[in-house]
Amino acid sequence: MDSPPLNRKSRDDLLTYHLSGYHPEISNRFPVFAPELAMENDGFDRTLFETLFKIESSHFWFKSRNELIIQCLKKYFPSARNFCEIGCGTGYVLQGIAAENPHMNVTGSEIYLSALDYAAQRVPNADLIQADICRFPFESEFDVIGSFDVLEHIDNDMLALQNIHKALKANGGLILTVPQHDWLWSSYDDMACHKRRYSRRELLAKVKDAGFNVIRMTSFMTFLLPVMLASRLKKTPDPSTLLSVNRAMNAIFYKINRIEQMLINRNINLPFGGSLLCIAKK
Ligand SMILES: C[S@@+](CC[C@H](N)C(=O)[O-])C[C@H]1O[C@@H](n2cnc3c(N)ncnc32)[C@H](O)[C@@H]1O
Repeated sequence: MDSPPLNRKSRDDLLTYHLSGYHPEISNRFPVFAPELAMENDGFDRTLFETLFKIESSHFWFKSRNELIIQCLKKYFPSARNFCEIGCGTGYVLQGIAAENPHMNVTGSEIYLSALDYAAQRVPNADLIQADICRFPFESEFDVIGSFDVLEHIDNDMLALQNIHKALKANGGLILTVPQHDWLWSSYDDMACHKRRYSRRELLAKVKDAGFNVIRMTSFMTFLLPVMLASRLKKTPDPSTLLSVNRAMNAIFYKINRIEQMLINRNINLPFGGSLLCIAKK
């Protein structure tokens, strides 16, 4: 049965959804809105969460992307009082945002309950819920919503964007990252359960069609694109070594990405790169 959209009035209301007409199960203290997808679904390989949890905080790709996201949140939405990440996985981004913005209420929404267990370790003060982005239970609730490398996992990405739009307050902000360039498609994308990689034009059109005003769109992971391309040309990757990079290269790649971040922060839009960043407003 479809429930009406939820307006959350306070943090405490998170565990009293039934007052607003919702009847989520509570599993391991997380409200569960899409129980049939909580253990298994085709949006992601849940066996990767353990590896991600171990490596994210030291891996150049995740560290650099976190810094970029945190920088954008500060720059474009300085007065935000609450923030929701949809598809928060193991909570690495949410942890960074919470640490940099102690005044903010942070919510993490994720389809896999097992990922929420990791997120709860990293961000114990966050409101964490299990929900499907295609049936997101909020309306006019958040100042800013972020969804990082999630849309490409969703068959109906337009519905996901419309739900994000609905869940934002008037003038609320959106920060999105997605993988870019169809020609970069490889067995990595198959393994990651991607449904697509985006072009700038496709993402722009979809975000606008969902009702947003796009403020900024830039590529990132640009300087490392040749490295990415080279790694894609190698033989079929082994899931256990999918994200492994030796220590020295990890440090060098991280430094390279710092330069890129400085350029993006100075309002320079990069024309191509492994990923796309989109900033928009309701
Ligand atoms: C590549 S991971 C990204 C995780 C996290 N956002 C990050 O950037 O580190 C994609 C995430 O989207 C989640 N996801 C996939 N389909 C979803 C859906 N329909 N609703 C909500 N989350 C979903 C996956 O479970 C996974 O945690």
